[in-house]
Amino acid sequence: MITGITGMDGAYLAQLLLTKGYKVFGTFRRASTPNFWRIMSLGLEDKIDLISVDLGDMSSMINAIQIAQPDEMYNMAASSYVADSFECPLANLDITGVAVERLLEAIRIVNKDIKFYQSSSSEIYGNTPAPCDEESPMIPISPYGVAKLAAHHLVNIYRKAHGMFCVSGILFNHESSLRGLDFVTRKITNTVAKIFLGLQSELTLGNVYAIRDWGYAPEYVEAVWLMMQQDKPDDYVIATNTSHTVIEFARTALKILDLGPKYIKHDDRYNRPIDIHKLQGNYSKANTNLGWAPKMKFEDLVDHMVGEDLERWTWYKEGKHFPWDAYLYPNEAKILRRIAN
Ligand code: GDD
Repeated sequence: MITGITGMDGAYLAQLLLTKGYKVFGTFRRASTPNFWRIMSLGLEDKIDLISVDLGDMSSMINAIQIAQPDEMYNMAASSYVADSFECPLANLDITGVAVERLLEAIRIVNKDIKFYQSSSSEIYGNTPAPCDEESPMIPISPYGVAKLAAHHLVNIYRKAHGMFCVSGILFNHESSLRGLDFVTRKITNTVAKIFLGLQSELTLGNVYAIRDWGYAPEYVEAVWLMMQQDKPDDYVIATNTSHTVIEFARTALKILDLGPKYIKHDDRYNRPIDIHKLQGNYSKANTNLGWAPKMKFEDLVDHMVGEDLERWTWYKEGKHFPWDAYLYPNEAKILRRIAN
């Protein structure tokens, strides 16, 4: 059972588990506008069972657990946009943090043998000097980071107090063409593709000197699965051990399409009240215990994401699109082509 199956990690994890022969149940938040484009773009819509769950509502969680009767539960659901946690801190604390307590309690009450994975985050480190591993001080500086740290500690408590198999994966930033457009990498690659095709004139960013450790999302869900297959539950940092500035990412993306840095503009509106200056992980423990290591290099990641966005916008520009879906997400072209055929 995967909570947050409509998100990037949820969709990739569902795909991975299906290839391993799992029966997959996914929970999603019902909204007036459906959000199944990632699942559809991976061709999973007929292969998984969907259950509506609201993370604020424990009864809906218990209901989902009773329907799915899972052996493993992966919590990929959260309000994952850090900047938004400054605007809506209470909602973020509830959905990103307190909801994990609800899930753990639901498992404890219904069936303590269900293994539980929690998507922890490198945001829990705040400005602790990089590189960070599982033992580094965790001093978050955003409401989102505080919520993730609360969840992180709760997982530890349930492991020790109730003997449950619960693990936290401390994932550093991980990206792909299924990333939402609000996150900086996808915002950059999407905009750069549009600039190349003459559909947009500039790339407007906030703090371009922020440094992040960016990996490739499909590789990160493999690490997540490995954590759940160990004899003993434990927490693991998943990262690339390298880092780059936002402006480096933007320049690299522009360069791929032979565009110069002149398109990069600054807008204070994208600045956060406080921002982590540098995040870089150390995945040694995952490498030793899980045999996991990242494969995709920074330049290849940027290249891949730019390529996907360029393909989609080219298709749009050629007029081969459906009006209701023409402007938003990657791989929609592929979905629409399939529907059209
Ligand atoms: N989103 C965004 N938009 N970020 C910008 C922009 C912009 O226009 N300009 C500069 N940035 C900077 C942000 O200030 C931040 O320092 C950095 O780019 C990365 O921002 P995001 O891509 O929004 O990711 P994040 O690091 O805040 O959070 C992501 O990684 C966490 C793991 O560390 C999210 O995926 C979280 O859910 C995840 O836990």
